[in-house]
Amino acid sequence: MFKLSILIPSLTLLISISLLILLAPRILPNHQITISLPDELDDLSLFNKAIAAETTFPKHPSHKNKLRLGTIKVHQPKIAFMFLTNSDLHFSPLWENFFNGSDPHLYNIYVHDDPYIKIPPLKGVFKDRLIPSKRTQRSSPTLISAARRLLAYAMIDDPTNLYFALISQHCIPLHSFSYMYRFLLDARRLSRNMEFPSYIEILDHSDSLFDRYNARGDNVMLPEVKFMDFRVGSQFFVLTRRHSLMVIKDRKLWRKFRKPCINVESCYPEEHYFPTLLSMEDLNGCSKYTLTNVNWTDSVDGHPHTYHPYEVSSKLIYDLRESNSTYSYMFARKFSPDCLKPLMELADSVIFKD
Ligand SMILES: *[C@@H]1O[C@H](CO)[C@@H](O)[C@H](O)[C@H]1NC(C)=O
Ligand SMILES: *[C@@H]1O[C@H](CO)[C@@H](O)[C@H](O)[C@H]1NC(C)=O
Ligand SMILES: *[C@@H]1O[C@H](CO)[C@@H](O)[C@H](O)[C@H]1NC(C)=O
Repeated sequence: MFKLSILIPSLTLLISISLLILLAPRILPNHQITISLPDELDDLSLFNKAIAAETTFPKHPSHKNKLRLGTIKVHQPKIAFMFLTNSDLHFSPLWENFFNGSDPHLYNIYVHDDPYIKIPPLKGVFKDRLIPSKRTQRSSPTLISAARRLLAYAMIDDPTNLYFALISQHCIPLHSFSYMYRFLLDARRLSRNMEFPSYIEILDHSDSLFDRYNARGDNVMLPEVKFMDFRVGSQFFVLTRRHSLMVIKDRKLWRKFRKPCINVESCYPEEHYFPTLLSMEDLNGCSKYTLTNVNWTDSVDGHPHTYHPYEVSSKLIYDLRESNSTYSYMFARKFSPDCLKPLMELADSVIFKD
């Protein structure tokens, strides 16, 4: 009797603990993964490598005076397309088409893929373009780390990468490569040695801004980030090399933004870190507009409108290009994977015809 009375509570306890461990991820919705110290140090050494390389590259296209058009043997500046994904690259055939036919000396591709999610091997232009990647999770600082990792790798990999475009697996191109290249690396700007802007959305007001500022606890962001300095914008940007360097050099803001969110529903660190940092350091160097069209009408649970095959038409592509700034949108999201077929049908006749 004595033994049993001990055994039953212990067993109950054991079962409860096992159940708790099993169910914890379900009971605690959006349980956030934290960034381990080894991962943090690993990233830091990568960023330091990129920063060191940046100061020793001999001939650098972003060093304004070194690039002279019209003289022989200029390094053609390139665009780094950085795909941040945690699934198959649904639209790789469309992107393949986008890159196909353009001069391979004008771009580089980098892929960061969550290693915890098994996807088929990358093929075509994406083959061997995977960078050493770490785990990512929605609404957590891991998405900032992944984007910074992509920037650092792309900077180290090719000193002629001048623009760095962040793209997700749900993004599609809205124009041809040459249209995009001509727009970003405008020859007149190049020849006049003018500064190139970064295309990143920077907004200083939104309904949930104050909640998002305090998502890690009240006033936790102080003193590095005052509420009046806190900004919001699209996670998907096109940064210049100068701004990419600024981003990977940052330690001050990252110390705060890397903190886990208590209020996960209103956090989304990646929508704040980049716009806040760049607005604090060089607002005038940014266009404040994103080049990626996202439809927030009737958004659900922080997700924008996702386009489905029945919505895909040439009119949709033309509509998505329309922006309120002086230039067209270059990318759009989100599209469901089964949009690939109708999009491919529009590829040559609409999307890449410009
Ligand atoms: C790329 O273009 C070449 C010729 O221009 C063509 O043969 C090839 O099939 C194209 N590949 C893709 C994936 O579109
Ligand atoms: C944006 O999404 C809404 C539905 O959420 C849709 O009615 C509208 O047509 C979309 N806008 C564009 C430009 O596709
Ligand atoms: C352009 O601005 C107007 C007014 O601010 C707004 O109603 C409209 O939705 C904007 N259009 C786009 C494509 O951003």
